[in-house]
Amino acid sequence: MVTSVSGMQQLARRWARAGSKVGFVPTMGYLHAGHLSLVRRARKAVGVRGKVIVSIYVNPTQFGPREDFSRYPRDLRRDANLCRAAGVDVIFAPRDEEMYPKPGALAFSTYVAEGALSQGMEGRSRPTHFRGVTTVVAKLFNIVQPTIAVFGAKDYQQAAVVQRMVRDLNFPLQIMVAPTHRETDGLAMSSRNKYLEGDLRRQALVLWHAIQEAQRVVKESTETPNAARLKSSLKRLIEAEPAARLDYIEFFDPETLKPARQATRGTHMALAVFVGRTRLIDNARL
Ligand code: PAJ
Repeated sequence: MVTSVSGMQQLARRWARAGSKVGFVPTMGYLHAGHLSLVRRARKAVGVRGKVIVSIYVNPTQFGPREDFSRYPRDLRRDANLCRAAGVDVIFAPRDEEMYPKPGALAFSTYVAEGALSQGMEGRSRPTHFRGVTTVVAKLFNIVQPTIAVFGAKDYQQAAVVQRMVRDLNFPLQIMVAPTHRETDGLAMSSRNKYLEGDLRRQALVLWHAIQEAQRVVKESTETPNAARLKSSLKRLIEAEPAARLDYIEFFDPETLKPARQATRGTHMALAVFVGRTRLIDNARL
Protein backbone atom coordinates (compact mmCIF):
# COMPACT_ATOMS: atom_id res chain seq x y z
CA MET A 1 0.00 0.00 0.00
CA VAL A 2 1.26 3.47 -0.87
CA THR A 3 0.02 6.44 1.13
CA SER A 4 2.26 9.32 0.04
CA VAL A 5 1.63 11.32 -3.12
CA SER A 6 5.34 11.55 -3.98
CA GLY A 7 5.78 7.79 -3.40
CA MET A 8 2.93 7.01 -5.79
CA GLN A 9 4.23 9.46 -8.41
CA GLN A 10 7.70 7.93 -8.26
CA LEU A 11 6.28 4.46 -8.75
CA ALA A 12 4.15 5.69 -11.65
CA ARG A 13 7.19 7.26 -13.34
CA ARG A 14 9.18 4.06 -12.89
CA TRP A 15 6.39 2.04 -14.53
CA ALA A 16 6.13 4.53 -17.38
CA ARG A 17 9.91 4.27 -18.03
CA ALA A 18 9.60 0.47 -18.09
CA GLY A 19 6.81 0.81 -20.65
CA SER A 20 4.17 -0.83 -18.40
CA LYS A 21 0.51 -0.06 -19.01
CA VAL A 22 -1.27 1.12 -15.88
CA GLY A 23 -4.95 0.40 -15.23
CA PHE A 24 -6.55 2.50 -12.50
CA VAL A 25 -9.74 1.99 -10.49
CA PRO A 26 -10.54 4.98 -8.23
CA THR A 27 -12.80 4.08 -5.26
CA MET A 28 -13.87 5.28 -1.84
CA GLY A 29 -13.26 1.81 -0.41
CA TYR A 30 -15.52 -0.57 1.47
CA LEU A 31 -15.13 -2.66 -1.64
CA HIS A 32 -17.80 -4.97 -3.04
CA ALA A 33 -18.17 -7.19 -6.09
CA GLY A 34 -19.03 -4.15 -8.26
CA HIS A 35 -15.64 -2.57 -7.52
CA LEU A 36 -13.92 -5.91 -8.12
CA SER A 37 -15.58 -6.22 -11.52
CA LEU A 38 -13.84 -2.92 -12.44
CA VAL A 39 -10.53 -4.37 -11.24
CA ARG A 40 -11.02 -7.34 -13.60
CA ARG A 41 -11.73 -4.92 -16.47
CA ALA A 42 -8.57 -3.00 -15.69
CA ARG A 43 -6.50 -6.19 -15.60
CA LYS A 44 -7.95 -7.30 -18.93
CA ALA A 45 -7.09 -3.93 -20.45
CA VAL A 46 -3.46 -3.81 -19.29
CA GLY A 47 -2.61 -7.53 -19.52
CA VAL A 48 -0.58 -9.70 -17.13
CA ARG A 49 2.50 -7.50 -17.52
CA GLY A 50 0.61 -4.30 -16.83
CA LYS A 51 -0.05 -2.78 -13.39
CA VAL A 52 -3.45 -2.42 -11.74
CA ILE A 53 -3.89 0.28 -9.10
CA VAL A 54 -6.90 0.82 -6.86
CA SER A 55 -7.18 4.06 -4.93
CA ILE A 56 -9.10 4.05 -1.69
CA TYR A 57 -9.97 7.53 -0.51
CA VAL A 58 -13.20 8.86 0.97
CA ASN A 59 -13.03 12.23 -0.70
CA PRO A 60 -14.41 14.94 1.62
CA THR A 61 -14.97 17.55 -1.11
CA GLN A 62 -17.67 15.51 -2.87
CA PHE A 63 -19.89 15.29 0.23
CA GLY A 64 -22.33 18.05 1.13
CA PRO A 65 -22.35 19.48 4.67
CA ARG A 66 -25.36 17.37 5.71
CA GLU A 67 -24.26 14.18 3.97
CA ASP A 68 -22.70 10.96 5.27
CA PHE A 69 -18.95 11.75 5.02
CA SER A 70 -18.15 10.99 8.64
CA ARG A 71 -20.18 7.77 8.81
CA TYR A 72 -19.28 6.51 5.29
CA PRO A 73 -18.19 2.85 5.85
CA ARG A 74 -14.43 2.31 6.03
CA ASP A 75 -12.44 -0.93 6.43
CA LEU A 76 -9.00 -0.62 4.90
CA ARG A 77 -7.75 -3.99 6.11
CA ARG A 78 -10.67 -5.86 4.53
CA ASP A 79 -10.25 -3.82 1.32
CA ALA A 80 -6.54 -4.67 1.19
CA ASN A 81 -7.32 -8.40 1.44
CA LEU A 82 -9.92 -8.17 -1.33
CA CYS A 83 -7.47 -6.28 -3.55
CA ARG A 84 -4.71 -8.79 -2.93
CA ALA A 85 -7.02 -11.69 -3.83
CA ALA A 86 -8.10 -9.82 -6.98
CA GLY A 87 -4.50 -9.39 -8.17
CA VAL A 88 -4.24 -5.63 -7.60
CA ASP A 89 -0.57 -4.52 -7.74
CA VAL A 90 -0.79 -1.42 -5.55
CA ILE A 91 -3.39 0.28 -3.37
CA PHE A 92 -3.03 4.03 -3.17
CA ALA A 93 -4.62 5.30 0.04
CA PRO A 94 -3.66 8.94 0.56
CA ARG A 95 -4.34 10.98 3.69
CA ASP A 96 -6.58 14.04 3.90
CA GLU A 97 -3.69 16.24 5.10
CA GLU A 98 -1.80 15.60 1.88
CA MET A 99 -4.76 15.63 -0.51
CA TYR A 100 -6.26 18.82 0.92
CA PRO A 101 -3.76 20.92 2.90
CA LYS A 102 -5.67 22.58 5.73
CA PRO A 103 -6.79 26.23 6.08
CA GLY A 104 -4.04 28.79 6.53
CA ALA A 105 -1.78 30.60 4.12
CA LEU A 106 -0.97 27.43 2.12
CA ALA A 107 -4.45 25.89 2.14
CA PHE A 108 -5.86 23.95 -0.80
CA SER A 109 -7.59 26.37 -3.21
CA THR A 110 -7.81 24.93 -6.75
CA TYR A 111 -10.87 23.09 -8.09
CA VAL A 112 -11.86 21.46 -11.37
CA ALA A 113 -15.50 21.98 -12.38
CA GLU A 114 -17.36 20.60 -15.41
CA GLY A 115 -20.04 23.01 -16.51
CA ALA A 116 -22.69 21.14 -18.50
CA LEU A 117 -23.19 17.42 -17.87
CA SER A 118 -22.81 17.95 -14.12
CA GLN A 119 -25.72 20.36 -13.80
CA GLY A 120 -28.80 18.11 -13.72
CA MET A 121 -29.82 15.08 -11.64
CA GLU A 122 -27.09 14.41 -9.03
CA GLY A 123 -25.72 17.90 -9.60
CA ARG A 124 -29.07 19.51 -8.85
CA SER A 125 -29.63 17.46 -5.67
CA ARG A 126 -25.99 17.69 -4.52
CA PRO A 127 -24.73 21.08 -5.78
CA THR A 128 -21.05 20.73 -4.79
CA HIS A 129 -20.76 17.00 -5.47
CA PHE A 130 -19.35 16.89 -8.99
CA ARG A 131 -16.86 19.67 -8.37
CA GLY A 132 -15.47 17.47 -5.60
CA VAL A 133 -15.45 14.41 -7.87
CA THR A 134 -13.71 16.10 -10.82
CA THR A 135 -11.20 17.75 -8.50
CA VAL A 136 -10.20 14.54 -6.76
CA VAL A 137 -10.23 12.48 -9.97
CA ALA A 138 -7.98 15.06 -11.69
CA LYS A 139 -5.60 14.92 -8.71
CA LEU A 140 -5.63 11.10 -8.73
CA PHE A 141 -4.92 11.02 -12.48
CA ASN A 142 -1.93 13.31 -11.97
CA ILE A 143 -0.65 11.16 -9.12
CA VAL A 144 -1.26 7.68 -10.56
CA GLN A 145 -0.65 8.61 -14.24
CA PRO A 146 -2.71 5.70 -15.60
CA THR A 147 -2.96 4.53 -19.20
CA ILE A 148 -6.60 3.63 -18.66
CA ALA A 149 -9.07 4.25 -15.83
CA VAL A 150 -12.22 2.22 -15.22
CA PHE A 151 -15.48 3.71 -13.92
CA GLY A 152 -18.80 2.00 -13.22
CA ALA A 153 -22.04 2.64 -15.10
CA LYS A 154 -23.70 2.51 -11.66
CA ASP A 155 -22.74 6.20 -11.43
CA TYR A 156 -23.68 6.96 -15.00
CA GLN A 157 -23.58 10.74 -14.74
CA GLN A 158 -20.24 10.63 -12.90
CA ALA A 159 -18.71 8.54 -15.70
CA ALA A 160 -20.03 11.02 -18.29
CA VAL A 161 -18.69 14.03 -16.36
CA VAL A 162 -15.26 12.40 -15.94
CA GLN A 163 -15.12 11.51 -19.64
CA ARG A 164 -15.91 15.12 -20.52
CA MET A 165 -13.22 16.41 -18.14
CA VAL A 166 -10.65 14.04 -19.66
CA ARG A 167 -11.51 15.23 -23.14
CA ASP A 168 -11.70 18.92 -22.30
CA LEU A 169 -8.50 19.04 -20.23
CA ASN A 170 -6.54 16.59 -22.45
CA PHE A 171 -5.69 14.04 -19.80
CA PRO A 172 -3.53 11.47 -21.64
CA LEU A 173 -5.54 8.37 -20.73
CA GLN A 174 -8.50 6.30 -21.83
CA ILE A 175 -11.71 5.95 -19.78
CA MET A 176 -13.59 2.65 -19.75
CA VAL A 177 -17.11 2.32 -18.36
CA ALA A 178 -18.08 -1.10 -16.96
CA PRO A 179 -21.66 -2.33 -16.46
CA THR A 180 -23.52 -2.11 -13.15
CA HIS A 181 -23.01 -5.15 -10.94
CA ARG A 182 -26.19 -6.25 -9.11
CA GLU A 183 -27.16 -8.55 -6.26
CA THR A 184 -29.10 -11.60 -7.45
CA ASP A 185 -32.41 -9.85 -6.66
CA GLY A 186 -31.44 -6.82 -8.77
CA LEU A 187 -30.27 -4.32 -6.14
CA ALA A 188 -27.27 -2.40 -7.54
CA MET A 189 -24.22 -3.07 -5.36
CA SER A 190 -23.14 -0.05 -3.34
CA SER A 191 -21.02 0.56 -0.25
CA ARG A 192 -24.05 2.43 1.12
CA ASN A 193 -26.16 -0.78 1.06
CA LYS A 194 -24.50 -1.46 4.41
CA TYR A 195 -26.82 1.18 5.89
CA LEU A 196 -29.94 -0.82 4.91
CA GLU A 197 -31.00 -2.52 8.09
CA GLY A 198 -34.01 -4.84 8.56
CA ASP A 199 -36.85 -4.26 6.13
CA LEU A 200 -35.05 -1.35 4.42
CA ARG A 201 -32.98 -3.84 2.39
CA ARG A 202 -36.21 -5.23 0.88
CA GLN A 203 -37.67 -1.75 0.31
CA ALA A 204 -34.47 -0.71 -1.50
CA LEU A 205 -35.45 -3.07 -4.32
CA VAL A 206 -38.00 -0.48 -5.38
CA LEU A 207 -35.35 1.31 -7.47
CA TRP A 208 -34.81 -1.81 -9.57
CA HIS A 209 -38.56 -2.45 -9.74
CA ALA A 210 -39.11 1.10 -11.02
CA ILE A 211 -36.47 0.56 -13.73
CA GLN A 212 -38.03 -2.74 -14.76
CA GLU A 213 -41.49 -1.17 -14.84
CA ALA A 214 -40.22 1.66 -17.07
CA GLN A 215 -38.57 -0.89 -19.38
CA ARG A 216 -41.82 -2.85 -19.55
CA VAL A 217 -43.91 0.25 -20.33
CA VAL A 218 -41.52 1.32 -23.10
CA LYS A 219 -41.52 -2.17 -24.59
CA GLU A 220 -45.25 -2.78 -24.42
CA SER A 221 -46.82 0.63 -25.12
CA THR A 222 -48.36 1.15 -28.52
CA GLU A 223 -47.84 4.93 -28.21
CA THR A 224 -44.52 6.50 -27.11
CA PRO A 225 -44.82 7.09 -23.35
CA ASN A 226 -44.78 10.68 -22.15
CA ALA A 227 -41.85 11.13 -19.72
CA ALA A 228 -43.75 13.32 -17.23
CA ARG A 229 -46.64 10.87 -16.98
CA LEU A 230 -44.32 7.90 -16.62
CA LYS A 231 -42.41 9.76 -13.89
CA SER A 232 -45.57 10.29 -11.83
CA SER A 233 -46.64 6.67 -12.08
CA LEU A 234 -43.15 5.50 -11.09
CA LYS A 235 -43.15 7.96 -8.18
CA ARG A 236 -46.38 6.33 -6.92
CA LEU A 237 -44.85 2.88 -7.29
CA ILE A 238 -41.73 3.95 -5.36
CA GLU A 239 -43.50 5.79 -2.58
CA ALA A 240 -45.84 2.84 -1.97
CA GLU A 241 -42.90 1.54 0.11
CA PRO A 242 -43.30 3.17 3.53
CA ALA A 243 -39.65 4.24 3.95
CA ALA A 244 -39.05 5.32 0.33
CA ARG A 245 -39.07 8.94 -0.83
CA LEU A 246 -38.26 9.89 -4.39
CA ASP A 247 -35.53 12.50 -4.89
CA TYR A 248 -35.63 12.49 -8.71
CA ILE A 249 -36.32 10.39 -11.78
CA GLU A 250 -34.96 11.59 -15.10
CA PHE A 251 -35.28 10.31 -18.64
CA PHE A 252 -32.48 11.58 -20.85
CA ASP A 253 -30.31 11.21 -23.90
CA PRO A 254 -27.45 8.83 -22.97
CA GLU A 255 -24.80 11.01 -24.69
CA THR A 256 -25.80 14.59 -23.90
CA LEU A 257 -27.73 13.80 -20.68
CA LYS A 258 -30.39 16.28 -21.93
CA PRO A 259 -33.85 15.48 -20.50
CA ALA A 260 -36.16 13.62 -22.89
CA ARG A 261 -39.82 14.51 -23.23
CA GLN A 262 -40.68 11.01 -24.25
CA ALA A 263 -39.35 7.69 -23.04
CA THR A 264 -38.44 5.41 -25.92
CA ARG A 265 -36.10 2.49 -26.51
CA GLY A 266 -32.57 3.83 -26.08
CA THR A 267 -33.60 6.63 -23.71
CA HIS A 268 -31.65 6.44 -20.45
CA MET A 269 -33.32 6.54 -17.03
CA ALA A 270 -31.72 7.48 -13.72
CA LEU A 271 -33.25 7.86 -10.28
CA ALA A 272 -32.34 8.72 -6.70
CA VAL A 273 -34.45 7.50 -3.79
CA PHE A 274 -34.14 7.93 -0.04
CA VAL A 275 -34.82 4.62 1.68
CA GLY A 276 -34.99 5.67 5.30
CA ARG A 277 -31.98 7.99 5.67
CA THR A 278 -30.00 6.24 2.95
CA ARG A 279 -29.88 7.84 -0.47
CA LEU A 280 -29.57 5.27 -3.27
CA ILE A 281 -29.11 5.80 -7.01
CA ASP A 282 -29.55 3.54 -10.01
CA ASN A 283 -29.93 3.86 -13.78
CA ALA A 284 -30.45 1.82 -16.94
CA ARG A 285 -31.05 2.04 -20.65
CA LEU A 286 -34.72 1.63 -21.64
P1 PAJ B 1 -17.23 4.58 -5.20
O1 PAJ B 1 -18.66 4.86 -4.89
O2 PAJ B 1 -16.41 3.80 -4.23
O3 PAJ B 1 -17.18 3.84 -6.60
C1 PAJ B 1 -15.94 3.57 -7.21
C2 PAJ B 1 -16.20 3.08 -8.62
O4 PAJ B 1 -16.95 1.86 -8.56
C3 PAJ B 1 -17.05 4.07 -9.45
O5 PAJ B 1 -16.57 4.12 -10.77
C4 PAJ B 1 -18.44 3.44 -9.37
O6 PAJ B 1 -19.26 3.78 -10.47
C5 PAJ B 1 -18.08 1.97 -9.38
N1 PAJ B 1 -19.18 1.16 -8.84
C6 PAJ B 1 -19.83 1.33 -7.67
N2 PAJ B 1 -20.82 0.42 -7.53
C7 PAJ B 1 -20.81 -0.32 -8.67
C8 PAJ B 1 -21.59 -1.42 -9.16
N3 PAJ B 1 -22.61 -1.92 -8.46
N4 PAJ B 1 -21.29 -1.92 -10.39
C9 PAJ B 1 -20.27 -1.40 -11.12
N5 PAJ B 1 -19.49 -0.38 -10.71
C10 PAJ B 1 -19.76 0.16 -9.51
O7 PAJ B 1 -17.56 6.69 -7.30
C11 PAJ B 1 -16.79 6.91 -6.38
O8 PAJ B 1 -16.44 5.97 -5.43
C12 PAJ B 1 -16.10 8.27 -6.19
O9 PAJ B 1 -16.97 9.27 -6.65
C13 PAJ B 1 -14.73 8.38 -6.90
C14 PAJ B 1 -14.86 8.21 -8.41
C15 PAJ B 1 -13.76 7.32 -6.33
C16 PAJ B 1 -14.14 9.78 -6.61
O10 PAJ B 1 -14.01 10.01 -5.26
